[in-house]
Amino acid sequence: MNPSDTSPTRESLLPELRRALDLAAGRARLVLERYPNYLPMYTVGGKWGHEGERWTHWCEGFFPGILWLLHRATGDETWLGPARSLSRRLEPRQHDRAVHDLGFLFFSTYLREYHLTAEPQLRNVLIQAGRTLALRRQQGGYLCSFLGPHSLFIDIMMNVGLVFWAARETGDQDLFRIAREHCRMTARHLVRGDGSTAHEGIFDVETGQFLRQSTQQGWRADSTWSRGLAWALYGFTTAHRLASGGSCVTPGEFLDVARRCADCYLRRVPASFVPPWDFDLPPEAPHLWDSSAAAITASGLWDLSEAVSDTGEQQRYRSAALAILQTLCTDAFLPLQRPEWEGILMHGVYHFHKGLGVDESVAWGDHFFVEALVKAIAGTSEAGW
Ligand code: GLY
Repeated sequence: MNPSDTSPTRESLLPELRRALDLAAGRARLVLERYPNYLPMYTVGGKWGHEGERWTHWCEGFFPGILWLLHRATGDETWLGPARSLSRRLEPRQHDRAVHDLGFLFFSTYLREYHLTAEPQLRNVLIQAGRTLALRRQQGGYLCSFLGPHSLFIDIMMNVGLVFWAARETGDQDLFRIAREHCRMTARHLVRGDGSTAHEGIFDVETGQFLRQSTQQGWRADSTWSRGLAWALYGFTTAHRLASGGSCVTPGEFLDVARRCADCYLRRVPASFVPPWDFDLPPEAPHLWDSSAAAITASGLWDLSEAVSDTGEQQRYRSAALAILQTLCTDAFLPLQRPEWEGILMHGVYHFHKGLGVDESVAWGDHFFVEALVKAIAGTSEAGW
C-alpha cells in the first residue's frame, strides 16, 4: 500500500487519537480497580485474569508501561503510584536468565521512570538487566531465545537495545560488541532479501553454524509471521538509534535493515494497513488479524520516520503510521461500543498453534498501541520513551 494515497494528516486524526487514549485510560483504571496487583497477558473472551498457559514470562512490563505512558501524556499524577509499585515488582528480574525479554520488561518501565526522575538506582537496575541479557551470547554470535542455546528469535531485536543502552551508559565495549553482533547475525539469518523475516533461526551449538530458519508462532518456517516483521522493523530502528556513535558500526547498517522490513510490511499489508497474523497464510487457514502487529508497526514507523533523513521517506513512514492508527481507532478494533470488553485493542493473536490469546486483547498490543498514540498526539517519538 502507498500510505500517502489514503492516510489522514496528524491534525485531522487528533480527535480520534485522543478518544482512543481516553478509552485506554478507562480500561487501565478498570484493571487497577477490578484486578489489583495483576499483570495482564491476554484476555479470554475479552476478560482479563483468565490466562491459561503463558508459555514464557515476557509481558509483565507492559501494563505498568501503559501507566507510565498515561502519566507522561496527561500529566495526571494518580498514575504514578500504581506505575511505580507494579514496576518495582520486576526488580528481581534484572537477574533473570530464563528469558530473552529483559528489554520488554525494563524499557517499558524502568527506563521511563529513569527519564522522569534520573534516580541512580533505576539506572543501576537497567545496566544490570543489560548485562544479564548479554550473558545469553552464544558461539554463533547471537543472544539465544528462552528455548535454548540453539535458538535465535526475531523478537530479541526488541530486547537487544537494553544491551546497547548499558554499553552506552558504562562505556563497556564488550557489551557494545555483543549487541552489535547479535543485530548482525539476526540481519544475516532471519531477515530475507525482500525484507520479510523468519521467526526463528536454528544453530549448531558447538560450531555456531547457522542451520535453518524455523518458526514457533508463525504459520511455517518460510512464512512471514506478522508480529515478527513488526518486531524487526521497530527493533532495528532502535538498534540504529542506540548504536549510533559506537565503534565498529557502519553508519546506517541497522537503519537499512529496518527500512527493508518496513517496506516489506507496506508492500504486503492489505488496504486497512492491519495484517493477518501471518503474511503467508494459505486460503484454508483462518485469516485472523493481528492488531498487535499493526500497533507495534505504527510505533516503530513513527521512530523510523524520525531516523531517516530523506523528507519523502519521512513523510511516507509517518503517513503509514497514521494510516494504521486510523484503522485501529475505529469500532472494528477499539471496544468503544463494547463496555464489557476489558482490553484496549481487540483482535490480537498471541500463539495460534497453541490456541493462546487468539482473537483477543494482548498486553503488548495494548502497550504499543498506547505508545503509538502518545507519539502521534505529541508529534514526537520522545513522548514514548
Ligand atoms: N514471544 C513474543 C511474541 O509473542 O511476540
